Amino acid sequence: MGNSSQDAGTAAIDFAQYLHDDTEQGVFSVRRDIFTDPEIYDLEMEYIFESNWVFLCHESQLPNPNDFYTTHIGRQPVVVIRNQQGELNGFINACSHKGSKVCLTRQGNTKFHTCSYHGWVFDNNGKNVAVKDNEDAAYSDAFKALDFGLKPVPKIAEYRGWIFGSIEADVAPLEEHLGDMRQFIDLLVDQSVDGMELIPGMSSYTFNGNWKMQIENCLDGYHLNVAHKGFLEITNQRVKRLGDKYTGPDIEAMFNTDLQTGSFGWEQGHALFFTENPAPEYRPLWPERENLQKRIGEAKTDWMIRFGRNFTIFPNVQCTDNAVIGQFRVLRPLAHNKTEMQIYCWVPKGEAASARQQRLRTYEDFFDIAGTGTPDDVAAYMNCQEGAEGRLAQWQLGYGRGQTALTNGANSLADELGLQPATSTAGPLTMSDETLFHASYRAWLKMMTSGQQRALDRPTKTEPTRSSNQAGS
Ligand code: FES
Ligand SMILES: [Fe+2]
Repeated sequence: MGNSSQDAGTAAIDFAQYLHDDTEQGVFSVRRDIFTDPEIYDLEMEYIFESNWVFLCHESQLPNPNDFYTTHIGRQPVVVIRNQQGELNGFINACSHKGSKVCLTRQGNTKFHTCSYHGWVFDNNGKNVAVKDNEDAAYSDAFKALDFGLKPVPKIAEYRGWIFGSIEADVAPLEEHLGDMRQFIDLLVDQSVDGMELIPGMSSYTFNGNWKMQIENCLDGYHLNVAHKGFLEITNQRVKRLGDKYTGPDIEAMFNTDLQTGSFGWEQGHALFFTENPAPEYRPLWPERENLQKRIGEAKTDWMIRFGRNFTIFPNVQCTDNAVIGQFRVLRPLAHNKTEMQIYCWVPKGEAASARQQRLRTYEDFFDIAGTGTPDDVAAYMNCQEGAEGRLAQWQLGYGRGQTALTNGANSLADELGLQPATSTAGPLTMSDETLFHASYRAWLKMMTSGQQRALDRPTKTEPTRSSNQAGS
């Protein structure tokens, strides 16, 4: 493969060679080296993560003026700052002097950010307001005319408290990127009149596997009663022993073939998997259903309570609102074979104490890093990463279930919510649809191809300009 950062004149890579996507024949597979090739990882960072919208943080992580939150867009360190007027801005978290990260903690509140290396100071609009010992510096006039501010992230936008950013200025509006996912964000936010929040405190861990394994696994119903067999056995025992006193998920009951399940995939790479809850009366939201029906209507309330939903907003944020309750995951690829996860419990603001308690205990039980579920998935990723090195077996076959249940465009359930997915399926949980993974790989191909084209079209050298560093420019 060629150089990871392509210059004009470099031969283009045909990324279509990595997917076998034949809709007519009903075949879809993925070449294993996209999980194992470090150069593919580099290009993904450049063409996907650093060229498109990515999730940065939730408003509940920086609610007040002068709050900041540090994160990454691809490989680039970023700080999101709420200025004194309450406006959100994003900056590359690198001092203009010698590049030290300026904000060293995950989050905080301060009017001024002082670099820990030589003490340059920046305000909450990214402007440099102090250079230590400036008077005696003997700087040239030409140097003094340069902009010392933090480099702004070209695009920051928010949808109902979900904050996204893009290093590439030339991207579609966030609303367009999110598309139908706005309705599924609404289904979380509208659970309370006050909206949703991430509970303070989080778990962070890394796994020795490629980020796309996480993209797939969040929507993989097929592994539930195999990889998480221990959890299934525990819940079976609880159902048997506690009877009506048990308010957690009954996993075995979810496999009842009378229950509706299905999936949607969208052109932007987003995908969603839904399952009908076998016992919606045990959901923490159940006591609120009449209020909800009045406030947001029957159809939305039905989707909130009757159906569990897992979704991915490509490429880095995933959310669940299913029988196992409330996980919010942000993924960060660190290498072709290493991924960092940050996981949170999301909640409707101001819910009843009993509902909050049920939600937290159920979340901890399965999703938290010490829960019964997450370690199973991490072990599966490691096994898959090691297995993927067996490149003599070049193609993965994990994308075929659900092919004959596939509808191009919307099915009747999508119509209920007025959705316009690229593909829809419906069938029992035992069908364990895998066609919903196609959306993210098709978006992968589109982004890799357009990102490469943009790189090839780019002038080979960017001249420094005096105003290019200016916050707000
Ligand atoms: S690197 Fe920040 S002041 Fe020198
Ligand atoms: Fe899992």
